[in-house]
Amino acid sequence: MKPLSPFFLLLPLLIIILFSTDTFSSSSQHSLSSPSSLSTFSPSPSPAVFTEANEDNRYKYRVYTTYILAIQYPKNLCAHAWETKRCDINYKIDLPNAFTIHGLWPDNPINHLPKPPVVQFEVDQIHNDIRLRDGLYEHWIDAYFNYQGGPNKETSKHIKAEAFWFEEWKKHGTYSGLNTHEYFRLALDLFLNLGDVIGHFKARHLIVPKPQGGFAINVTKAHMALKEVLGVDTFLKCQQNAIMQEEFYEIEILYDKATLRRLDHGSFIGNHPHNCGIEIVDLDIDTNI
Ligand SMILES: *[C@@H]1O[C@H](CO)[C@@H](O)[C@H](O)[C@H]1NC(C)=O
Repeated sequence: MKPLSPFFLLLPLLIIILFSTDTFSSSSQHSLSSPSSLSTFSPSPSPAVFTEANEDNRYKYRVYTTYILAIQYPKNLCAHAWETKRCDINYKIDLPNAFTIHGLWPDNPINHLPKPPVVQFEVDQIHNDIRLRDGLYEHWIDAYFNYQGGPNKETSKHIKAEAFWFEEWKKHGTYSGLNTHEYFRLALDLFLNLGDVIGHFKARHLIVPKPQGGFAINVTKAHMALKEVLGVDTFLKCQQNAIMQEEFYEIEILYDKATLRRLDHGSFIGNHPHNCGIEIVDLDIDTNI
């Protein structure tokens, strides 16, 4: 049989390239348009053909199908805070013995996504819903709140928390296609649905005292406990602080965007559902547990 000529092999590729170049330019115009066109912003990007030929376009036209909910343990973040981060000296009593929300991230990684048109952070939409506002004040706090004096510590704490929400909104929320209220309501609902994560660990006696004082947890066991309760693989994260101590500070849970069902988080480092260098890590918690 006669082999196909190179032209016939390249033809489909050429068609695809032409097609994606065309979609690309019309969308660039859209995202570069003046602020006056904001009202015409449609949050859902139109589906496009993704080809190996243009890796960039794959991300530009990505249709987001998943969310990651990241929850963090503020006391561990403060136990060995980074040089650039400062916690209140009273963090041990002020911060909860609980995980709190870090963020709700449409897809991952975000770095490759196109910048969406500016979408306002409408904090009033949160303030006007007292239940949402108070839920967020309780569960979406800034671990690095550092009281500098002033009339009211609670108020300052709330202002700091809102600044954190705004950062997360700019970085992630604006990619969600949701408005401020919808996005924060969703994040809080998904979070509350996890139940008491520290409680899940405690119920299985996973938080154990260390001989030298303090408490520790085996992240492999923690992952297994979460799988039992939540029904899916999660991803547990440690980071090394400025003095090279490893701290367990975060858990990622993956969701299907359309159904909001939890999914198995695909990330494993080697065989591990965590990126910690050691299995048994400190957990800064009140001793009266
Ligand atoms: C952590 O827990 C896993 C699962 O139970 C166990 O196999 C492993 O030996 C534990 N790690 C340490 C250092 O004890």
